[in-house]
Amino acid sequence: MALEMARTKPTVVVTRKLPDVVETRMMELFDVQLNINDRAFSQDELAAATGACDVLVPNLTDRIDAALIAQAGPRLKLIANFGNGTDHIDVAAARSKGIAVTNTPGVLTEDTADMAMALMVSVPRRLVEGARMIQAGEFKGWSPTHMLGHRTYGKRLGIIGMGRIGTAVARRAKGFGMAVHYHNRRRLLPELEAEVEATYWESLDQMLARMDVISIHCPHTPATFHLLSERRLKLLKPSAYIINTARGEIVDEEALIRMLEAGELAGAGLDVFEHEPAVNPKLLTMKNVILLPHMGSATIESRINMGEKVIINIRAFCDGHTPPDRVLPT
Ligand code: DGY
Repeated sequence: MALEMARTKPTVVVTRKLPDVVETRMMELFDVQLNINDRAFSQDELAAATGACDVLVPNLTDRIDAALIAQAGPRLKLIANFGNGTDHIDVAAARSKGIAVTNTPGVLTEDTADMAMALMVSVPRRLVEGARMIQAGEFKGWSPTHMLGHRTYGKRLGIIGMGRIGTAVARRAKGFGMAVHYHNRRRLLPELEAEVEATYWESLDQMLARMDVISIHCPHTPATFHLLSERRLKLLKPSAYIINTARGEIVDEEALIRMLEAGELAGAGLDVFEHEPAVNPKLLTMKNVILLPHMGSATIESRINMGEKVIINIRAFCDGHTPPDRVLPT
């Protein structure tokens, strides 16, 4: 099948608008159906697309579940996801139907780490609240007790998930004078752990109870759904902040909201939500949260690099090679 595709241009369906430079290259290389109007596909439209293409290029807003995969046409051999997270794709169902799945790791690491760090400073320092005050014309002049926040320097940061992004956050946090701690399925190699000066906690519960800030950087899988459950959130100090630039489903959002309302947590910086794109209305009125519309990796550089990765994965696959960013079922 791979060699057949190499002889003719593979038929590729892209479900959302991509940067012009990526789309242009795809036009040169593939028989591609673009979505220049950027209207999200319905489930029926996705089904129609998977019935008639060799390669589907979805993204996190598409639900590529077992039912969709089951009805995919015999030509579909590759799902080349535009994005790192693949929790919206039933990778096991794809594999059992002989469909390969790829993603775009590595190229959005630094931008996502920047966003986590920005939230880590902005929430305790009340940056958005201050900016809104100016815009509302409410700034009446400096005073010693005006807009007091909390210092980042010297605080303990607990990173959950010490992969590429977690490690990039650790490097930044070190520069901000934070003490870095982490919980991960596997401990880092000693050289890397020493470089980022991070303290490993085998027990997530024990780490949570001692941190000033928690930043989430693990993938969303069945094992990490509600990893920060109500029980675990309750282990945190009332002065602690939570930063989530990974996936909303990792935190029990209802429990988080209850605790923020009750003053059992100091604040939260959320770039992702459990029922995205829906945002719980209770969050909208809270002063101690900063909410962002899933823009952790939203730089033009990241998006172009992601597109290049998608192209490389498709090309490698069509040439009969294992694509560099193959995703296997967890
Ligand atoms: C991803 O790639 O999974 C991010 O969440 C979106 O850029």
